[in-house]
Amino acid sequence: MTPGTTSPADLAARAADLSWYHTVELAPGVLTNGHFDTRPTVAKVPMPADLTGKRCLDVGTWDGFWAFEMERRGAASVTAIDIEDPTRWDWPPQSNFGEAYTGRLGYLSTFKSGAASFGLAKEALGSSVERLDCSVYDLDPAVHGTFDFVFLGSLLLHLRDPIRALDRVRSVCGGEAVFAESIELIPSLTHPRTAIARLEGLDQSWWWQPNAAGFRRMVRSAGFTIEEQTGIYFLPLGTAHPKPPLTQAWRRLGTAGGRERIVTRVKGIPHTAVRARPLT
Ligand SMILES: C[S@@+](CC[C@H](N)C(=O)[O-])C[C@H]1O[C@@H](n2cnc3c(N)ncnc32)[C@H](O)[C@@H]1O
Repeated sequence: MTPGTTSPADLAARAADLSWYHTVELAPGVLTNGHFDTRPTVAKVPMPADLTGKRCLDVGTWDGFWAFEMERRGAASVTAIDIEDPTRWDWPPQSNFGEAYTGRLGYLSTFKSGAASFGLAKEALGSSVERLDCSVYDLDPAVHGTFDFVFLGSLLLHLRDPIRALDRVRSVCGGEAVFAESIELIPSLTHPRTAIARLEGLDQSWWWQPNAAGFRRMVRSAGFTIEEQTGIYFLPLGTAHPKPPLTQAWRRLGTAGGRERIVTRVKGIPHTAVRARPLT
């Protein structure tokens, strides 16, 4: 499809049949019903404004929001990797597709592989991004070559071995990388210089939740030098994300998890991003 050749109503109807992680503007006024709205974070993430002529990689692309952003910034080519089959994700074994999913994490079962939503967005935007079914753990310069710019967002928390993943990114990074990740808010504020990571690893979908200093340490320990780190910013929930009533959250105000939940409900998921280069 050439952008603009399908009517906005048709596009909206096709988009409504799919599940979306990102809020993507498929055409003027046609927004996808995403679980997260990454649009306000574009101005916070230190992605180079000009990627003209660069070979770029988006790791864990889902609907492709960040891959399309790199293309908009002039990238010569963008490769986007993801795992098509969610059962191959590296989630904690007890956060499988069974009970945990149908209980308090029930809404997660509404997530499908992003291949279909990515495909529609690619078509609507007239994009040339190439999507590969590939785990970050399998990035290999002998297979994929090297990239001038790599973006990885909100993925490390879902990985058992985030340092190995970063190490694989380093192996294909011939220039700069930006890592934009979820962090724990309160230990980031109370321990700004001490690297801390809390292990979850049971029924939630994540393993490690670092504070901002812990995240910085992960990147450095995988062999990168950090050129810039943002302050804490928040990734807002999208229209598809369930929003439990605040009254429920207030009852858990006495616990760290409860406090983090209130922040998420009101502001979104706390994040920080770094711009880094492989050590030579
Ligand atoms: C929380 S979403 C983040 C989406 C996007 N990167 C962003 O920052 O908005 C995590 C994405 O990583 C993908 N993913 C999960 N495990 C992966 C792995 N081992 N290698 C590559 N991608 C993975 C998921 O399918 C999903 O698309």
